Amino acid sequence: MATTEVRQQGGAENGQEEWYPPSEAVVQGAHIQDWDKLAREADADFVGFWEARAKELVDWYEPWTKVLDDSNKPFFKWFVGAKTNIVHNAIDRHLHTHRRNKLALIWEGENGESRTFSYHALNREVSKFASVLKALGVRKGDRVTIYMGRVPELPIAMLACAKIGAVHSVVYGGFSTEALHGRIEDSQSRVVVTCDGAFLNGKIVELKRIADEAIKRAPIVEHVVVFRRTGHEVPMEEGRDMWWHDLMALPIADPRCKTEVMDAEDPLYLLYTSGTTGRPKAIIHTHGGYQVGVATTLQYVFDVCDEDRYWCAADPGWVTGHSYIVYGPLILGATSFMYEGAPTYPYPDRWWAMVERYGINILYTAPTAIRGLMRFGEAWPNRRDLSSLRLLGSVGEPINPEAWRWYYTNIGKSRCPVMDTWWQTETGMFMITPTPSVPLKPGSGTRPFFGIEADIVDEHGKSVGVGEEGFLVLRRPWPAMLRGIYGDPERYVSQYWSKYKDAYLTGDSAKRDKDGYFWIIGRVDDVLKVSGYRLGTAEVESALVSHPAVAEAAVIGLPHEIKGQGIHAFVLLRQGFTPSAELAEELRAHVGSEMGPIAKPEEVKFVDSLPKTRSGKIMRRVLKARAQGLPEGDISTLEE
Ligand code: PRX
Repeated sequence: MATTEVRQQGGAENGQEEWYPPSEAVVQGAHIQDWDKLAREADADFVGFWEARAKELVDWYEPWTKVLDDSNKPFFKWFVGAKTNIVHNAIDRHLHTHRRNKLALIWEGENGESRTFSYHALNREVSKFASVLKALGVRKGDRVTIYMGRVPELPIAMLACAKIGAVHSVVYGGFSTEALHGRIEDSQSRVVVTCDGAFLNGKIVELKRIADEAIKRAPIVEHVVVFRRTGHEVPMEEGRDMWWHDLMALPIADPRCKTEVMDAEDPLYLLYTSGTTGRPKAIIHTHGGYQVGVATTLQYVFDVCDEDRYWCAADPGWVTGHSYIVYGPLILGATSFMYEGAPTYPYPDRWWAMVERYGINILYTAPTAIRGLMRFGEAWPNRRDLSSLRLLGSVGEPINPEAWRWYYTNIGKSRCPVMDTWWQTETGMFMITPTPSVPLKPGSGTRPFFGIEADIVDEHGKSVGVGEEGFLVLRRPWPAMLRGIYGDPERYVSQYWSKYKDAYLTGDSAKRDKDGYFWIIGRVDDVLKVSGYRLGTAEVESALVSHPAVAEAAVIGLPHEIKGQGIHAFVLLRQGFTPSAELAEELRAHVGSEMGPIAKPEEVKFVDSLPKTRSGKIMRRVLKARAQGLPEGDISTLEE
């Protein structure tokens, strides 16, 4: 299938006939040498494949009685009856090995500060904070909302929750008041962990002040723990707010804290994500199957070795950070690097300078970041020694072949394969991805991971032919799969398992080429992907409508050179308000302060009517077609 040299055919954006064979140096010593053989075996017995990984890669307090229970589909259970705790695998077990004094985490602040944690030190901090949470009344099963910048205390807080069996709900630090409020309220968190602020682009993000506003609307919150990062003055409410460093200096911060014995199916975390309609929903992940899924995929795809320095440049507040900054690397006993700030601060070579400084071997990031850095040209990466890099990765949205090639050539120096990993908050782990021995085509995540069965189907669930576009579905359960939507089991069934019998609906459209490689096209629902971040049109619209001038709003995503998609809003004003450039700007700022800067529309357009169906549903598809000057398609249900 692969040729030994790169063949280039087709247009610049067509990577379908452009092969990049695996590099000998990378394949040597990689975990997976014979992709086809393992794929065949896992295909013949996917349950057996996962059981073998569960025995090989993680430890259990008590074994399972059954690997997969599918008696109550789609409520699948994995490793039924087993007892475990993901923190046992991520930290505890390493303390008795050579890894005790190995670095678990290297952190660099945007201001150049640096901190490191050995596994021993990480255990100490996690155990102390776990004891603090207990002293604040947090019990097994309780939800804790974490709203922090990219500081080591964020993973420490997550691990502390997991250690005592509490369920963490991390809210991305780029979200704002209403987004945070909704997530605190829905999860019913009585404890919130936050920071006084975060450094980004040389400025301070006012996390504590935003949290205060959100908590005002969520009276359930009893305790707020504040980590001091910036040192600037923030209001502290007596009786409710406490400094992290004060609590950690008290005798209640006992470094001897027992890791709670959990059932494999007990919840580990909630992570809110945007769906087709309405408010964001909390995806549930568990202790047992999740750890097996993330450890296996990280080991096979990024080939993480003990001596590696691995950098996933995502934010810990998104699933990529949960699975592949925090849990995956720690379970494998790796050294993970984490950076606080903006990629271009103070100069566009900040990332490359850090690769050089820490000798990073594996770099995993998003197409939007690559496009953003590409803008500044090759001179910036060329100034730096990037020879430590061995593997590169991409996630979050389809990577355009041009960005892929730039990344491969200028960052990977044509030596480092790019692992384009397709997955979702819901899947918890990589689903369609190469491993280092797989020949690559720029823009394709190649084939499904071992044991995963992906298909592309038409409206009726029938597999489509080569080159035809269809709905991407997954036909088999996998251990890191979501176990549901918190508080809404019906929505779990209706959203993911109703369109087709026995297949999980991903919400993406895709094509398969003649070599069986998958090409993701994008979302087919009302989910936006802005700089790789997942947002719902409904959330942005409701932020707009919460402004007194707005009667109705519709938002769509249009192509954007750096962000992938940019948000465009169409607004119908209430009587008494007149369109103006100032009002448009005010509305953009309003969305920014309610939802967060990432949700700020590129443009707000004032309209007199919105295209709707007779039942009153806004036809965003029509707005999108009009904005791009494309045919409007079937408009028989349109009633403007
Ligand atoms: O549309 C797909 C896109 O991101 C969606 C999932 O978003 P989220 O839950 O935020 O998780 C992102 C990080 C795993 C998918 O439905 N997506 C993710 N990775 C890729 C991708 N699209 C194309 N190629 C990818 N590698």
